[in-house]
Amino acid sequence: MSSCVFEGNPYFSLEHCRQEYPSHGSTDFRRPAVELRQPNGSRITSFVYHSHTVTPGKPALEGLPAFFAREDEADTLTVYLADAVSGLRVELLYGVLEDCDLITRAVRVVNGGEAPFRLLQAASLCLDFLRADLDLITFDGRHTMERLPSRAPLRPGVQGVGSVRGISSHQHNPFAVLCEGDANEDHGLCYGAMLLYSGGFQAEVERDQFDNSRLVLGIQPRNFSWTLDPGESFTAPEAALTCTADGLGAMSRQLHRAIRRHLLRDPWAGKRHPVLINNWEATEFHFDLEKLEGIAGAAAQLGAELFVLDDGWFGARRSDRAGLGDWIANPELLPQGIPGLAERIEALGMRFGLWFEPEMVNRDSDLYRAHPDWLLQTPGRTPSHGRNQFVLDFSRPEVVDRVHAMMADILSGAKVSYVKWDMNRSITEAYSAALPPDRQGEVFHRYILGVYDLYERLTSAFPHVLFESCASGGGRFDPGMLYYAPQAWTSDDSDAAERLKIQYGTSFCYPVVSMGAHVSAVPNHQVNRATPLSTRANVAYFGTFGYELDLNRLTSEEREQVRAQIAFMKEHRDVIQFGDFYRLLSPFQGNYTAWMAVSPDRRTALVGWYKTLNEVNGPFRRLRLRGLDPALCYTVDGTSAHYGDELMEVGLVTTDSSAGECRDGQRPSRDFDSHIFVLRAD
Ligand code: DGJ
Repeated sequence: MSSCVFEGNPYFSLEHCRQEYPSHGSTDFRRPAVELRQPNGSRITSFVYHSHTVTPGKPALEGLPAFFAREDEADTLTVYLADAVSGLRVELLYGVLEDCDLITRAVRVVNGGEAPFRLLQAASLCLDFLRADLDLITFDGRHTMERLPSRAPLRPGVQGVGSVRGISSHQHNPFAVLCEGDANEDHGLCYGAMLLYSGGFQAEVERDQFDNSRLVLGIQPRNFSWTLDPGESFTAPEAALTCTADGLGAMSRQLHRAIRRHLLRDPWAGKRHPVLINNWEATEFHFDLEKLEGIAGAAAQLGAELFVLDDGWFGARRSDRAGLGDWIANPELLPQGIPGLAERIEALGMRFGLWFEPEMVNRDSDLYRAHPDWLLQTPGRTPSHGRNQFVLDFSRPEVVDRVHAMMADILSGAKVSYVKWDMNRSITEAYSAALPPDRQGEVFHRYILGVYDLYERLTSAFPHVLFESCASGGGRFDPGMLYYAPQAWTSDDSDAAERLKIQYGTSFCYPVVSMGAHVSAVPNHQVNRATPLSTRANVAYFGTFGYELDLNRLTSEEREQVRAQIAFMKEHRDVIQFGDFYRLLSPFQGNYTAWMAVSPDRRTALVGWYKTLNEVNGPFRRLRLRGLDPALCYTVDGTSAHYGDELMEVGLVTTDSSAGECRDGQRPSRDFDSHIFVLRAD
């Protein structure tokens, strides 16, 4: 039943071959990576090897995020493919970053013919495996519960995830793992693949009739098309791959290292992220200057380094019904504007940060009144709203320019050291008044290019500003965003017990230093649960630590606890934010969660241990650690001493008072207990 390529040869069919950039319509019936409509209506193409080059270093991708490397850190292999009939060419760009076992791939499709072509799909990555006995792990969820690992063996046919929301989304992440069925944290072959893209994506794996499998990862083809006039090219975003035989933990550490070294850009590469205080959960829209100064003052006294003024400071924004789009401080709230407030915060000894939601507009805003045609909306249809807001058409340069002017004005006129860039809805009715009918398939991608353009302009003009991306929490926590914004608000769910799952899942791809994590008030605003203050901090330490509550409402004893927590974070920040991260116990598999960070010299380690529900008369428990030097002797919490091999092979005793022993001898154990063990070898 195979269709064969060469007449007279009954054997050679593309469905038996591994391919690097397959198209559909000839003898390969699996998922394609590229699809083009040619002037004569045909969609058949056949890209075959033409030539290749190898050059030192790794060039940037114009207008798109990409891993970067010095000339001595990477090589770039460019493979040129050509389709003899149409004149179309494809360039496959492979970056090889040996120090992190990372291979990147981007694709450029070039119209070398004489007529326009319509690109219908341009995936960034296609990887054919000569086996199908693999598990697929994707990272899925919803608003307030993002990136939970979901694992299943490959079944015959196509399986995968994607986003059609114009953002990478809360529902699925542009990162997937293929691994051997018995792979666990410590052993087994694992491939991790990510897409550096913040818009809609598709990640699919097809297990075929011969038990081979194919992974295709790229821009979401639904609603995508791109007209390529003669001489024009289209660059598909970069994908990146890593591989290890040493299990999921090693895979994650390779990815963390790659992201920290080659994706988070200067000046934030290798820099400590500040301990912040954010006013959102403390006040939402109900604040005035006095309240803000009260929150900031208390935080400064306890050691916080950055005060972030969240939503509500601009235009007519006193609720989510008005003001988005008008990036000018509300003079009634802030009589001395942003410069005045920033000065006062700096005088307290902290840096000042500000919230924006640049891509959105409320109808009740001066921007909308002046430019009602700047919305993404389909002619004749009412645009859907989300949180009472509408999406600005960022595919239009004049829209991006206007927003840029307002933001640059604020950032250049005041001492602003941080920006939280929020984005609070999925994109619907994606139609641009500025594009002709046959180019409407370009809107989603042009929108993201507009977002990246604004990020690029702001980050290069204000390099000292730390950007944190956010999309109702973790709706755009993706590698593309991290290139511009080196930290991301992990989730709108700030409950410590829920955060264990969210941060655990997020850690499969993303390093601790990129995960925004805050201590918030109890009862928790999302789940109404009370967890101990210590546990809230013990979870948030494994992120870019901060607070999101009014510290004045704590007891003086609790405030002293906060002071100690901030000091603890500052003392151990380097190990947590730049050390190697090990997942030890999964929150999805039992009552206990544990993870640890180990310093590069393996002399210091922090072990986070968390219990969900308390128990009575529990068994004697040990936790087997990872990543230590077996020959070094570690003191645990400054008391008992154990060699690394004992801690890794036999385990650290974590038994607590629920088993009849009090570790600290002071208080009875309770639900949501936790402890950070500090290990030191001198
Ligand atoms: C959604 C974000 O995730 C929150 O942290 C907060 O910034 C609100 N938006 C403000 O509207």
